[in-house]
Amino acid sequence: MHLTKSIFNQFLLIALLFLVACTAPATETETETEPQTKERTDSHSFALPDEAVTKHLSLHLKVDFQQKILSGFARYQIENQGAKQIVLDARGLNIEKVTLGEAETPTEFKLSKEVPILGSALSIDIQPDTRLLTIYYQTTPEGADAVDWLSPQQTADKKHPFLYTQGQAILTRTWIPCQDSPGIRITYDAQIEVPKALMAVMSATNPQEKNDTGIYTFKMEQPVPPYLMALAIGDIQFKSVGPRTGVYAEPGVLEKAAYEFGEMEDMLKVTETLYGPYRWERYDLIVLPPSFPFGGMENPRLTFATPTVIAGDRSLVSLIAHELAHSWSGNLVTNATWNDFWLNEGFTVYIERRIMEELYGEDYANMLAILGYQDLEADVADLEAEDTRLRLELEGRDPDEGMTDVAYEKGAYFLTLLEQKVGREKFDEFLKKYFDTYQFKTITTAEFVAYLKKNLLEPDNIEVNWEEWIYQPGIPANAPIPESDRFAKVEATITALQNSDPNQLKTSSWTTHEWLHFIRHLPKDLTIDQMAALDKTFQFSDSGNSEILDAWFEVAIRNGYAEKILPKIEAFLVNVGRRKFLTPLYRAFKESGQLDIAESIYKKAAPNYHAVSRGSIESLLDIK
Ligand code: BES
Ligand code: ZN
Repeated sequence: MHLTKSIFNQFLLIALLFLVACTAPATETETETEPQTKERTDSHSFALPDEAVTKHLSLHLKVDFQQKILSGFARYQIENQGAKQIVLDARGLNIEKVTLGEAETPTEFKLSKEVPILGSALSIDIQPDTRLLTIYYQTTPEGADAVDWLSPQQTADKKHPFLYTQGQAILTRTWIPCQDSPGIRITYDAQIEVPKALMAVMSATNPQEKNDTGIYTFKMEQPVPPYLMALAIGDIQFKSVGPRTGVYAEPGVLEKAAYEFGEMEDMLKVTETLYGPYRWERYDLIVLPPSFPFGGMENPRLTFATPTVIAGDRSLVSLIAHELAHSWSGNLVTNATWNDFWLNEGFTVYIERRIMEELYGEDYANMLAILGYQDLEADVADLEAEDTRLRLELEGRDPDEGMTDVAYEKGAYFLTLLEQKVGREKFDEFLKKYFDTYQFKTITTAEFVAYLKKNLLEPDNIEVNWEEWIYQPGIPANAPIPESDRFAKVEATITALQNSDPNQLKTSSWTTHEWLHFIRHLPKDLTIDQMAALDKTFQFSDSGNSEILDAWFEVAIRNGYAEKILPKIEAFLVNVGRRKFLTPLYRAFKESGQLDIAESIYKKAAPNYHAVSRGSIESLLDIK
């Protein structure tokens, strides 16, 4: 999942130090002497919220698909401690003018020189009594990395263009000037004008039908960090699948999606039973075109999802459990900085598995946990030791580099360990209280540790190596890896494979997860004929399940079998932009001396990828 960009990082670090040195000397001295403040200081935002902070946003944008530009204004209500300036983040935006108050008095503003990744500080002159300001701006076609503009050809139905945004971690500033820090929450309302054939939806209250004005209005009344602001526009329809849940998708995908995600209400109920009420009213999901760089994104009230999760048999819906779990871990209680990302993702993976256990049984959840552990081991083997701690130090780097399976899986294993130490009942009670206590707030790792000690460990004298888990590299020896009979059978089957025909293997009862375990554990030295025999028997290369396809293609590339099925691998890579699928395949080409194939496929595929995926693949393949 990770990529090294050391030269780039050094450059960024120097640029950052320079900026900090000339723009914010006061903050620097403060953080030196005040460790608690330092923990909370977000090095990935220029905002100085202690001086003036955004509270509510009214966003008015018009969408121009021809020019690939969003234009309009962002009007902020702010809280001002008597400051003379408010500082926002902006990257790749054209700021036209800024006005103050209802009277819209023009004011001075300054954009600092743009640095890579972070963009610019947008410093706006305000009066000590300023409560309202309006920023008139446009996005730029090349600079708005959050925004993916898709041609009709890149959609499922191929008739209309499509647009979606991806804000996490620090991309919202490329389509909205904002105080783009997870530690700063705003409520918002929005008015978005789109071509009449299309509908707009956001991480907010949503329309369920198109209207004939092309103007859609939205409200998000719960305060959210800017990385959770999201917009999607396309020829989309809505179908209800439960009292509080529904699915948005292009017409040709809607029925399949509604079936696949039919269990969302059950998932909500399970999570509410465990951790208290769902605070966001509705939980809907939109299926995006295949370029979406993630499996899912937990935009509040409206999860954004890849179409590759639709397997036809609901076998990949743990991903939905994951995004829905973020309604508690992440969206309700949020990491204060990207160094604390594990508090979002580790908790979410833990909850995801609890939901899956409740709905599908312990066996099923154990298989998920073991596959997750395999991912963790692979990432840890690849990463620098310092990046295998739960609490990260990402200053001077792209926060994306912290988004590895360490946060997800090491984080989840740590929580499972705590659960086993104190018993499930106590742990559930602890987490429920944690969500109540910190709801709509942000939390640092140190604050979590203090809360953990006070509320869980100290009352019962529980001893646990939390320091090692959180602050030391690697996977501690007491990781509670579950046993799985079902996987044991898969392993026995692989042994049997050595001296029997694949047709004889007993696999008829296997689920997707058993197949994944099987493919991941195939011997590394299979001949092309053996690969072909497996493929013929199990039809892996034609699987309708994206996870199986991806795992199989990786083995195929590494075993020299890729050339036999190259058109299929290429079609997958050109069509799908989900980074988690792309990285292993391009890396496998690179590591097995087939860089030329990777480069030629990438050339064709790049226009179909979101900037997030392009960035990762380009640094993997050393392009530009
Ligand atoms: N919030 C993440 C996606 C993300 C992380 C976007 C970091 C940008 C930066 C989302 O909840 C997620 O984790 N998605 C996973 C699926 C999950 C089942 C592990 C994904 O996209 O693969
Ligand atoms: Zn997540």
